[in-house]
Amino acid sequence: MINNKDEILKAYNFRHACKEFNGNEIPKEDFEFILETGRLSPSSFGFEPWQFIVVQNKELREKIKEYSWGGEKQIPTSSHFVIILGRKKKHMLYDSKYINDFMREVQELPDEVRDMKRGFYKAFQEKDFNLLEGERAIFDWACKQTYIALGNMMTSAAEIGIDSCPIEGFNMEKLDELLEREGIMSRDDFGVSVMVAFGYRKKDPRGKTRQNLNDIVTYIE
Ligand SMILES: Cc1cc2nc3c(=O)[nH]c(=O)nc-3n(C[C@H](O)[C@H](O)[C@H](O)COP(=O)(O)O)c2cc1C
Repeated sequence: MINNKDEILKAYNFRHACKEFNGNEIPKEDFEFILETGRLSPSSFGFEPWQFIVVQNKELREKIKEYSWGGEKQIPTSSHFVIILGRKKKHMLYDSKYINDFMREVQELPDEVRDMKRGFYKAFQEKDFNLLEGERAIFDWACKQTYIALGNMMTSAAEIGIDSCPIEGFNMEKLDELLEREGIMSRDDFGVSVMVAFGYRKKDPRGKTRQNLNDIVTYIE
């Protein structure tokens, strides 16, 4: 365990949405450390409904930039640029091949435990969270999970002095089409959830602004 709260908070204050990077390259082992913290992130039922596409190809970055008003400077100047995909209904549905294979091969659950878990998962999707109406609800639920990995990767980057910018400023449909055209993903299987650029800041950010804790926290005792 890291037993130094000041150091941890220093990283949280260091992290900001970096608008432009200085062009320096993140060492391979540092970037792999960031990805590893994404991989280790929690997800609902543990189903890891994500894929991380690391786009280092400059021409493709330019094409992505066309549809991304929120990443105009970040995308071309970043050292590593990651598109986080979320899985579609075809995979996330309680009786899908993905879920069954995942429970067997990744989670290594025996037959009877898989059946039980599938039952809980079915009830959750049908009744508790109403995820089965249309395609969008369940895709958005998958995308929620990807934001946990996003947050963890940005924090772990900050902990080792690397800057980042989360990017939601893009046209979903156009970007999905582009990635399909480029042979990177199929829209039947995946959609873009969120993107994140990593690198080193070109200039210092303005100071942090946040609400006070007592404006956002309520204790019920
Ligand atoms: C999910 C998400 C999407 C975001 N999308 C963009 C974006 O497209 N472009 C951008 O410059 N900043 C983006 N931001 C950054 C926020 O504007 C920023 O985090 C917020 O203003 C707080 O500032 P700070 O992160 O510098 O502390 C995004 C943040 C989050 C969490």
